[in-house]
Amino acid sequence: KTDEIILGIETSCDETAASIVKNGTELLSNVVASQIESHKRFGGVVPEIASRHHVEQITIVIEEAMKEAGVEFEDLSAIAVTEGPGLVGALLIGVNSAKALALAHGIPLVAVHHIAGHIYANRLMEPMEFPMLALVVSGGHTELVYMEEHGSFEIIGETRDDAAGEAYDKVARTLKLPYPGGPHIDQLAQEGTATIDLPRAWLEPDSYDFSFSGLKSAVINTLHNATQRGVEISPNDLAASFQESVIDVLVEKAHRAAVAYDVKQIVVAGGVAANKGLRARLRERFEETDIKLSIPPLWLCTDNAAMIAAAGSIEYNKGKRADMKLNGNPGLDL
Ligand code: KG4
Ligand code: ZN
Repeated sequence: KTDEIILGIETSCDETAASIVKNGTELLSNVVASQIESHKRFGGVVPEIASRHHVEQITIVIEEAMKEAGVEFEDLSAIAVTEGPGLVGALLIGVNSAKALALAHGIPLVAVHHIAGHIYANRLMEPMEFPMLALVVSGGHTELVYMEEHGSFEIIGETRDDAAGEAYDKVARTLKLPYPGGPHIDQLAQEGTATIDLPRAWLEPDSYDFSFSGLKSAVINTLHNATQRGVEISPNDLAASFQESVIDVLVEKAHRAAVAYDVKQIVVAGGVAANKGLRARLRERFEETDIKLSIPPLWLCTDNAAMIAAAGSIEYNKGKRADMKLNGNPGLDL
């Protein structure tokens, strides 16, 4: 049996990325061109600027990934590309590049859901054991996903308003920290104490849903009130208090779901999985259980194409193929 070689392509937001993965688990190359510097001065991702950068970078990034891995187009078993969700103009660059290459070289095309990609980043580190639970925490998503087997996703809880990363970014903006704010809040929180009382949205007792907009507003109000009264508030303590509120709910609900669904493994996925506080608290909470906890290394938490190739391998092996009608789908369901 010859090796399965998949080229992954990811352009859903502000990273242009390409990667080569062998047999679904072995990383041969992983190239990420970040646009963060271009979006920083606007305090967030500007869709039109993102698309333009993707157009400039995509060919270079793909060529580099192939060269680094030492593979040619004829070696590829499939091309896996992010179909959605994301910014439509950004997605289209990846989708159209993938379609062009697939057509020109006669290579099978596979469409991948961005969040499935984040979840499958974990498979590049260790085998997955089912049933499994994924705690997905990114800039656009906060979800608890139950997986009976490979490629099967059941959302058992999700945010009713802001995503966790979105709340981090909005709170960071209030504290006048650069975009993206998550890592800066994380950093401040490391040197702060959670002394400020902030709400935790537990919702209904049996719910696995989340809500972060109330917490975000509470942080903003706390800051405004302090400024009005001329009181100094330690940004470190505020960051630590906010972070503790987020983590308390994430960890508690993930733990409750993992036990209720009797899973063998829990994986954490998405940009907020890079959070130091969250990683530490999850390790603490799951240490005392026999549920295996997997958290990807930092470079696999944020957007990359290795995770798209890894998820693409599952789809490919299930016989799923996309055709030349494939389009970017900004609101794609998992
Ligand atoms: O998964 P991702 O790279 O992009 C999306 O698919 O959304 O996630 C980006 C999000 C941003 O909101 C960013 O602030 C957050 O992940 N993030 C963090 C940390 N690193 C990135 N949030 C908290 N702590 C971090 N260390
Ligand atoms: Zn992402």
